[in-house]
Amino acid sequence: MLFNTFIALLSVSGVLSQDGWGVTYTPERICALKGSSVDMRCAYFHPTYYYTFLWQYYTVEKAFWFIRWHHPQEPEDLSLDREYSGRVEYCGNQISDCTFRIKQLRESDSQTYRFRFLTNHNGKYTGRPGVSLTVTALQVRVNPGSVTEGQSVTLTCSTTCTLTGSPAFTWYRDRSPLSFTTQTHQLTASSEDGGTYSCAVKGSELLPSPAVALTVNYPPKGVSVSVSPSGEIVEGSSVTLTCINQANPPVQRYSWFQENRAVPSETGGPEASYTIKHITQQDAGEYYCEAGNGIGTNRSPPKRLDVQYPPKGTSVSVSPSGEIEEGSSVTLTCRSDANPPVQRYSWFKETGAGAGSGQSLNFSNFSSWSSGQYYCEAKNTHGAQNSTALLLTAQGGRSLTVVAAVGAVAAAAILALVFLGVVCVRRKRSINEEQDLLYSTVQKPLLECEDDVQYASVQFLPSRAAPRSPAVKEDCALYTTVRKHQT
Ligand SMILES: *[C@@H]1O[C@H](CO)[C@@H](O)[C@H](O)[C@H]1NC(C)=O
Ligand SMILES: *[C@@H]1O[C@H](CO)[C@@H](O)[C@H](O)[C@H]1NC(C)=O
Ligand SMILES: *[C@@H]1O[C@H](CO)[C@@H](O)[C@H](O)[C@H]1NC(C)=O
Repeated sequence: MLFNTFIALLSVSGVLSQDGWGVTYTPERICALKGSSVDMRCAYFHPTYYYTFLWQYYTVEKAFWFIRWHHPQEPEDLSLDREYSGRVEYCGNQISDCTFRIKQLRESDSQTYRFRFLTNHNGKYTGRPGVSLTVTALQVRVNPGSVTEGQSVTLTCSTTCTLTGSPAFTWYRDRSPLSFTTQTHQLTASSEDGGTYSCAVKGSELLPSPAVALTVNYPPKGVSVSVSPSGEIVEGSSVTLTCINQANPPVQRYSWFQENRAVPSETGGPEASYTIKHITQQDAGEYYCEAGNGIGTNRSPPKRLDVQYPPKGTSVSVSPSGEIEEGSSVTLTCRSDANPPVQRYSWFKETGAGAGSGQSLNFSNFSSWSSGQYYCEAKNTHGAQNSTALLLTAQGGRSLTVVAAVGAVAAAAILALVFLGVVCVRRKRSINEEQDLLYSTVQKPLLECEDDVQYASVQFLPSRAAPRSPAVKEDCALYTTVRKHQT
C-alpha cells in the first residue's frame, strides 16, 4: 500500500476498564490524508472466566466497528455499510487485537469510530470514546497570487487538521519537483517562479493537491532578433525578423530600428515580427527591436543583416588610356559590384573564345595579334554577369589605333553591319611582308545607332619589325580582322 497514514495524536486515553472489560485506541485522534488509508490501532480485553455454578471461559462471538447506534437496536457493523463497502477491513482477531483499516479515505469519513464486541454469556462491551478521524485534503495557498518580480510570496500546503509526526512535503511547480520540503515556504519572486504550484506529503506523492497559479510579472527578458529564413539572404527574397523575448504580461508594443532609425516609419505594434518583402541592398545593416509590456522596455543586441546579390554593373577598363606604343604593356581590368565579392573573373575575346581569367588581363607586348573585342564575366555564388565589350580596331594613318566600343551587343551589331553595309573593302599588302591587314571601312553613321558606344583611342606606333602600315584615307576605318603571318 503506497498510502501512508498520518496521524495526529492529541491524547491517549488510559484503558477504559470496568471489571476487567476494556478497549484501548492508540491514538484516539487521527488526522489522515484524503485518498490514503488509515489503520485505527485498537486492543481489547475481557475477563477470562465467568462463574455460573462452574467457572467457564468467555469466548468472543462478534467483534465489529460502527459509527451509528440507534438504541435500543444493536449498532450497525460498518463493513455492511454501503458507504464503506470494499473500503474497510477488520485486521484484528477474536482475542485481543481490534485494529480497523479504512482505505481510499473520503472527507465524509470524518467521524468517530467505535469498537464493540459481544461474547457468550451475554457479554457486551463498547470502547469509548472511540477514534475521532478527520480526513483532510491538501490545498496550496499562494499569497499573494500575483506579484511583480522582486516581491515576496508565501506558499502554504494547507490542511484542515494538523498532520503530526512533522511529515515533510514535496512541492511542485508545473509538475516538476522543487527543492524545499516545508509546509510553508517564502520566496522572493523572480520570473522563473511563475507557474502552477502543487504539494504532496512526502511518501504520498500520488495524492498531490490541486495546482494553484502564481503570476509573476516582469519586463521583457532575453530580447533578441531572429532572422527567417536563416542562412544567406539574397536580394529580392522575403525576410522576416522576429523579436524573441520572454515577458509577463506579454509584450504589447514592439519597435524596430535599422541603424538607429525606426522602421517602418510608424512605430510600435503588438506584432513581434517585421517582414521585408523584397529585400534590397539598402536593407542591409544592423537591426534591433525594442519590446515593452507596461512593466518595462528592453532592446535586443543589434543583428547584422547581410544582403547578397549577383554581380552588377560589370565593366572593363583599359590602362593606360590614350595612345600606346606597340610592344608596350596594356592591362584590361574587370570591375563588378557583388556580394559576396566576385569569386571568378573570366575573359572572352570575340565571340566567346576564352582569353584568360583573373580580374586583370595583361598584355606585356601588345601586338596586332591581340586586337579584337574583349569582355569579362564576373561570377559569384548568386550568378554571373558579362560586361560590355571593348572593341580593339586599328585605324589608318601611320599608326594603329584601337577603337574601344563599350557593349558586346554593340560590337556584334557593328560586325553585322560591317557584313551588310561594307562600303569599300580594300586589301592592302603591307610594306612589310610579315603583316597582312584586312580593312573594312564603314561610314560613321552606323556607329550612331548604338547610344552606349564609347571610343577610346589608343595609338600604336609601328615597331622596328613592323614598319608603318600604309595610309588609309577613310574617316572611319573598322578593323574586323587583324592577321599576322610569321614566316
Ligand atoms: C558571358 O559570355 C560567355 C561567352 O559568350 C558565355 O559563355 C556566358 O554564358 C556569358 N555569361 C552570362 C552571364 O551571360
Ligand atoms: C597584370 O598587371 C597588373 C599591373 O601591372 C598586375 O598587378 C597583375 O598581377 C598582372 N596580372 C597578371 C595575371 O599578370
Ligand atoms: C614583342 O614582340 C615582338 C614580335 O613578336 C618581338 O620582336 C619583340 O622583341 C617583343 N618585345 C618584347 C619587349 O618582348
